[in-house]
Amino acid sequence: MAADPAHPPVAHGPGPHGPDGLFHRLVAWQRSHGRSHLPWQHTRDPYRVWLSEIMLQQTQVSTVLGYYERFLARFPTVADLAAAPSDDVMALWSGLGYYSRARNLHACAQQVVARFAGVFPTTSVELQTLPGIGPSTAAAIAAFCFGERISIMDGNVKRVLSRALGFEGDLAQAGNERALSALAQALVPPDADHAAMASYTQGLMDLGASLCARSKPQCLLCPLSSDCRGLSTGAPDAYPVKTRKLLRRHETWWLLALRRPDGAVWLERRPPRGIWAGLYCTPVFGDEAALLGALVSWGLDGAAVQWLPARKHSLTHRELSLRPAVLPVNVSAGPASDGRWATPGEWQALGLPAPVRLWLDGA
Ligand code: ADE
Repeated sequence: MAADPAHPPVAHGPGPHGPDGLFHRLVAWQRSHGRSHLPWQHTRDPYRVWLSEIMLQQTQVSTVLGYYERFLARFPTVADLAAAPSDDVMALWSGLGYYSRARNLHACAQQVVARFAGVFPTTSVELQTLPGIGPSTAAAIAAFCFGERISIMDGNVKRVLSRALGFEGDLAQAGNERALSALAQALVPPDADHAAMASYTQGLMDLGASLCARSKPQCLLCPLSSDCRGLSTGAPDAYPVKTRKLLRRHETWWLLALRRPDGAVWLERRPPRGIWAGLYCTPVFGDEAALLGALVSWGLDGAAVQWLPARKHSLTHRELSLRPAVLPVNVSAGPASDGRWATPGEWQALGLPAPVRLWLDGA
């Protein structure tokens, strides 16, 4: 039988959009168990919703409540906010943190006035053209205020949906995040009305902030548990899959500056690959014994080594603890062939690693 375009079968029968589908279950759960007394929930005024969404980024609801009321009392409309001195805006934001949000907030209000005659645009696409409004915030404003059938995708929602769908892709990769977004979008029924979009959007947030917590999710109480793929694997908290932020390996490097009476220091060129590739540097050793051993082999007296305070240096993949040492020497030949003596005037013109230059310039 041909599908009736006026009544898409997916929206009514079983399946993702049916009454037993994720969307409608979450809508029903939000209405019976979700939050309903937050001050930004009972308005479709995009100014108020936008303000709440910006304040709630990286900030808990309990912290936002007082700021939200004070802000609206001082700036009742987007035009009031746009016209305010930036010092006033920053002062009212003071204590909420992430101050670029406040600067963007002010700039956004000014653009709404200048570009849109003081009326927020009504689509997520246009909303994203404003400062400080990214895709998920734009989707939240458009769904809450205008009933746009679009899925939000903030951190909590990625967790809820990756669990519910058993999404295995590593969200550290943008391609996988786009794939999850597309799956989230497919969960929204094409005929969802404004009220349902508002409840669904709030429901995703509420579930992520309560039962579907990062650790120890309370699956027994969850409206999505009966066909949550994450739960069926036995390890829902293994989702979302996201590779860890790069863990920097700790290493200690012993650096030895052989210094002649004229101030010249022995520098060697680093290997063409690896850390500080191709730069000039003092000899580097993996431990103190190797450094002292090298001195012996060069016929130098290790007892005269002056140890300087250790310094930390962070690289993309390494956390280096540098242990610099200086040994005054009275020789003209260097210890190895691939190196040179360089006076302070000469090493200014050489490529030196920044922390080594700092050390030598100050030593
Ligand atoms: N975090 C982001 N948006 C929110 C909202 N509308 N309610 C509660 N927490 C939120």
